[in-house]
Amino acid sequence: MQEPLTRLRIEDLTTSNDAMARCLRLAALAAKSEVPVVLLGETGTGKTLLAYAIHNSSARAGRPFIAFNASAISDTLLESQLFGHERGAFTGAQQSVKGKFELANNGTLFLDEISEMSPLAQVKILRVLEYGEFERLGSERMLTSNARIICASNCSLRERVRLGKFREDLYQRLNGLTLLIPPLRERWEELPALIAAELKAAGLKEGKNITAIHPEAMQKLLHHAWRGNLRELSHTVRTMTLFCNGSVILPEHVVFPPDLDSDRAFPETGKSVSVFTNNNEHDPVTDLSLDSAMKRHIKFVYEQAKQNQRRAAKLLGISRSTLARYLRGVAKNEA
Ligand SMILES: Nc1ncnc2c1ncn2[C@@H]1O[C@H](COP(=O)(O)OP(=O)(O)O)[C@@H](O)[C@H]1O
Ligand SMILES: [Mg+2]
Repeated sequence: MQEPLTRLRIEDLTTSNDAMARCLRLAALAAKSEVPVVLLGETGTGKTLLAYAIHNSSARAGRPFIAFNASAISDTLLESQLFGHERGAFTGAQQSVKGKFELANNGTLFLDEISEMSPLAQVKILRVLEYGEFERLGSERMLTSNARIICASNCSLRERVRLGKFREDLYQRLNGLTLLIPPLRERWEELPALIAAELKAAGLKEGKNITAIHPEAMQKLLHHAWRGNLRELSHTVRTMTLFCNGSVILPEHVVFPPDLDSDRAFPETGKSVSVFTNNNEHDPVTDLSLDSAMKRHIKFVYEQAKQNQRRAAKLLGISRSTLARYLRGVAKNEA
């Protein structure tokens, strides 16, 4: 990640995945408007990152970006967190404090983990969104906030409404534009570039000059399920950088946290396929670049699937058109 979150803009984010590209296009639209946004994605997919990017690309850039984790606050602290309090409003309130809505006035209020908010929090937030007004605890004075709202959730809010866990009226208020951030396992074609970028960053941090990834190490990375998404990727790359003493990442350097260690199984066989086996065991793989590792992998799976594009695409977890593009690339490379 080249830019720190506080400066990150949507155009700093690139992708080679169709669904993610759609998501970034919607994010750019969202930045041009004041419409409330819901960012929907598994943990670690980049919801917080995208919330910052939308804010920084919007007319509110330079104004406050206030993040509030709606699930992590008990009901007793909730109101003072959201609306602030005056000195002496309750035992221990030694000075006046601004709440998140007040702090985010003219800026963006990012409500994280919104699906887990308590019923009380839902009522309180709805009231401010409907009337734009609130008061600090211990004060009668009405304050206003025009904070632009961006929410994040790792589960469908519509489903939460259906289960009676989320207020329908609040859902309607928050849900201007929903951006679906695909999980990393569905952004398969992005993995090599993401790994390369993380590796470069980790190498700089650890003071190591790593120039390549061994094909078998790459195989491990490509086959991992990445339940923790980009956060897990970043940790894994940092760890393998630590373990690596030379310039090439070897398979033994790739270690996943035990509770997340579940390799993507190939549906047909029920077990992972070794993808970089050479016919000749001693035949050294000379081109260790990520790009060439990915091309070899795609070609291998395509051959395994008896050159059936539909099956190969399914095994790879990518669309058929994406596979076709890669195969053209593979063919071109060999020509
Ligand atoms: N497109 C991306 N490129 C590079 N790193 C990313 C990207 N999206 C997310 N990350 C990194 O992944 C980690 C998790 O992102 P975050 O926004 O906190 O996810 P979430 O809020 O969905 O849990 C962060 O370290 C972030 O910098
Ligand atoms: Mg987050």
